[in-house]
Amino acid sequence: YQANLWIDGEKIVSHTHPSQPIPTGSDVKVIDASGCYVIPGGIDAHTHLDMPFGGTTSSDDFLTGTRAAAYGGPTTIIDFAIQQKGGTLRQALDTWHGKAQGKAVIDYAFHMIMTDAPEASLHEMADMVREGVTSFKLFMAYPGVLLLDDQSIFKCMLRAGEIGALICMHAEHGLPIDILVERAIQRGHTAPIYHALTRPEAAEATGTERAIALAEMAKVPVYMVHLSAQRALERVMEARDRGLPTYAETCPQYLFLDDDALRGSEQDPFDGAKYVCTPPLRPKHHHEHLWRGLRNYDLQVVSTDHCPFCMKDQKTLGRDSFAKIPNGMPGIETRLHLLHDAVNHGQISLNRFVEITSTAPAKIFGLYPRKGSLAVGADADVVIWDPHKELLLSKENLHMRVDYAAYPEKTVRGAPTHVFSRGELVVENDKFLGQQGRGRFLRRSTFSL
Ligand code: URP
Ligand code: ZN
Ligand code: ZN
Repeated sequence: YQANLWIDGEKIVSHTHPSQPIPTGSDVKVIDASGCYVIPGGIDAHTHLDMPFGGTTSSDDFLTGTRAAAYGGPTTIIDFAIQQKGGTLRQALDTWHGKAQGKAVIDYAFHMIMTDAPEASLHEMADMVREGVTSFKLFMAYPGVLLLDDQSIFKCMLRAGEIGALICMHAEHGLPIDILVERAIQRGHTAPIYHALTRPEAAEATGTERAIALAEMAKVPVYMVHLSAQRALERVMEARDRGLPTYAETCPQYLFLDDDALRGSEQDPFDGAKYVCTPPLRPKHHHEHLWRGLRNYDLQVVSTDHCPFCMKDQKTLGRDSFAKIPNGMPGIETRLHLLHDAVNHGQISLNRFVEITSTAPAKIFGLYPRKGSLAVGADADVVIWDPHKELLLSKENLHMRVDYAAYPEKTVRGAPTHVFSRGELVVENDKFLGQQGRGRFLRRSTFSL
């Protein structure tokens, strides 16, 4: 609808009808957004900034990553703190506060990745919730590194139920995957494409089913991160049809790319390393299922799983073996562009675009109505979105600290012209105006159905 939106300080204070006069005065700044949409700032509920992983560290830190996000329209991220094996949750949280403080340019919150679930950690989960970290990610993949066994997962779920936390699952059955990886390497199958061939859809489908069953037994809600494939989605749909509080996100890479990208170029199959992320890119036919899942509310959120590694000195760690390629792709800046382009192509509605990129993650992760909404009283995280502005998603046009672009030949229609974070204009027509460190930590509420 047409309206004038009023911001005072950090908050949205009113909406007025366009026929009403606009006050003037030296303390009033008016921005004409005619022909554009005014939407709530994006919320990226899945990022990995400054994350040690695969023998290196993701190439964007909280300054470069949040600045790139702001260029693309997000004004909030939820990043993952990681418990060291044998370490406490408190240590992990302190470490991630240290990484973000003084650097982040937009607001941020944390999930906690648990890699260990002794009694002391289960007890500590409540301390995290009191500090606003109200969701915990658990891994069924990466044995010996991040994987938690089913008993530990189940105990964490029971505890989450007691304290109002949400369990987020990386639901790939990692034990057989590791055997497939070992055998592929023994046979000399070392190119990036084998990353996809050793992590089949069945591993994600069975992991998803198992995670749902554990959550059902524990009587808790569960949220599947980075869901990539048709059969995993079908498990989620069955659970939701049975009335279980099962939620899932997918990511742009699973909607816009397919496993062909992992084959690299004719000159160098290792170019496929740019697209090594986990779960892997799937064959193209999965796309239509994920789009339908988004339209039908079986998938609630699109987040990025932004976890960039440069080709130079990082992805190349795996030149001799795909298993050593650090897993992850850049995406924090381009999610809104890509999904708005999907609106242009009739894959989702404009309202659904806003819902899956902002409102739904705010609601699921305890940030609503302060974030994810243009309601009076909400934080003035506001994006003016020009639906006609074109952008080629080339490396030169983007701001993520990574030496390649994931969609270098794709031109999208629709981009932000102004991005406000808590009332402050941080991006205006491709110029970054924010201050390093201005982003605030957000304490999130507990999960509520
Ligand atoms: O490839 C990915 N997704 N890297 C980040 C770790 C994870 O599992 O989310
Ligand atoms: Zn994961
Ligand atoms: Zn991730």
